[in-house]
Amino acid sequence: MSSVPTDPNTGPSTGSAASSDVSSPGTSNVGIAAAEAGAARPASTPFELLGGESGVRALVERFYDLMDLEPAYAGIRRLHPNTLDGSRDKLHWYLCGWLGGPNHYIERFGHPRLRARHLPYAIGIAERDQWMACMVQALGEEQVATGLAGRLAEAFFGTADWMRNR
Ligand code: HEM
Repeated sequence: MSSVPTDPNTGPSTGSAASSDVSSPGTSNVGIAAAEAGAARPASTPFELLGGESGVRALVERFYDLMDLEPAYAGIRRLHPNTLDGSRDKLHWYLCGWLGGPNHYIERFGHPRLRARHLPYAIGIAERDQWMACMVQALGEEQVATGLAGRLAEAFFGTADWMRNR
C-alpha cells in the first residue's frame, strides 16, 4: 500500500495549521476514496468514512476499554494514568484532526508535538506492538470496513513506530 505517506513530517490535507507532526491518513495522498471516486471530486476523508465525531469516539472508547480489560495490553495500560478519561478525550480530539476532520486537539493544545509528548514514557517495540494490537482489535470490534481498517492500521503503525524512544 504505497499510498499511505511514510514521511513523519507529512502535513495535513487542508494546508492550514498542521494537524499532526507524524504520518496522517488525513493527508490528501492517502487515496482512500480518491482512487475509488476517480478523483473527480474531493475525496472523503478517513474521518468521514469512520462516521465523523461519533465514529471516532466509538473507536477511541473501544480502544481504551480493551486496554483496560485485556491482559495482553497491561504493559501499555501501566504507562497511563489510573483513570483513562483524559486519555480518551485527548486521543479523540487528536484523531479527529489526524483523520482529516476538525482540529480539536490543536485548538486546545497547539501543535501536537506527539513524539515529544511521548518521551516521558518508555516506548519500545513491545509497547508499539501492544498499542497496534489494541487498535487493530478495536477497529475489528467496531466493524470498520476491512479496506479502511487496513489502511488505517498501516498509517497508525507509522505513527506508533515514530513514538519509539528506545
Ligand atoms: C506506540 C505506542 C504508544 C504508547 C505506549 C502510548 C502511550 C501514551 C501515554 C502513556 C500517554 C499519556 C496518557 C495521558 O496523559 O492521559 C499518551 C498520550 C497520547 N497519545 Fe499515545 N501512545 C502510543 C502511541 C500513540 C499513537 C500511535 C497515537 C496517535 C495516533 C497516540 C496519541 C496520543 C495522544 C494524542 C496523547 C495525548 C498527548 C497529550 O496531549 O498529552 N499515541 N500516549
